[in-house]
Amino acid sequence: MIRVTNLQKFFGDQLLFNDVNLTIGEGEKIGLIGRNGSGKSTFLKMLLERDDSKGGEIECHPSVVIRSLEQNLDFGAPTVLAQVCSALPADSVHEEWRAKASLMGLGFEEFDFDRPPFEFSSGFKIRIRLAETLVSDSHLLLLDEPTNYLDIVSLRWLEHF
Ligand SMILES: Nc1ncnc2c1ncn2[C@@H]1O[C@H](COP(=O)(O)OP(=O)(O)OP(=O)(O)O)[C@@H](O)[C@H]1O
Ligand SMILES: [Mg+2]
Repeated sequence: MIRVTNLQKFFGDQLLFNDVNLTIGEGEKIGLIGRNGSGKSTFLKMLLERDDSKGGEIECHPSVVIRSLEQNLDFGAPTVLAQVCSALPADSVHEEWRAKASLMGLGFEEFDFDRPPFEFSSGFKIRIRLAETLVSDSHLLLLDEPTNYLDIVSLRWLEHF
């Protein structure tokens, strides 16, 4: 699905990494591990933006959809459920149950569905974004340190999902 060949990244004249080679196949789940500052987040951003301008190559068919969590926590919909439903693909706008299942898995209760998103803590706002990402139609989902905003129950649910 995606092939990365000899990818390089410089900040100024400082080399962050080079010779990064990997392939990502459909359905694969990959953990990216490395020291603080070793370039994990930078690499994920390059994948997301398909940015190989600084050397090497990221080959990926244009139809492949790569998503990560939207950082902006301002929501347009009046309720949590409507917000997550707004991310459903055009051909499955009626599959509200998928939005509900993702929200429940991530720690929301049924009575939260009709509450406005702004009422929630930032941790739960991130979970709303995550639920949106999960119901949308991506081929590759990039999650940078999801343990930072999920509890163990939600994390287990996400792994299963
Ligand atoms: N825009 C930038 N300009 C200059 N240096 C940057 C920039 N973004 C990141 N860096 C530097 O590049 C290095 C890699 O950062 P990155 O955030 O990718 O590491 P990381 O592996 O995700 O670290 P962590 O485990 O702390 O999340 C760090 O030394 C960081 O200071
Ligand atoms: Mg990082």
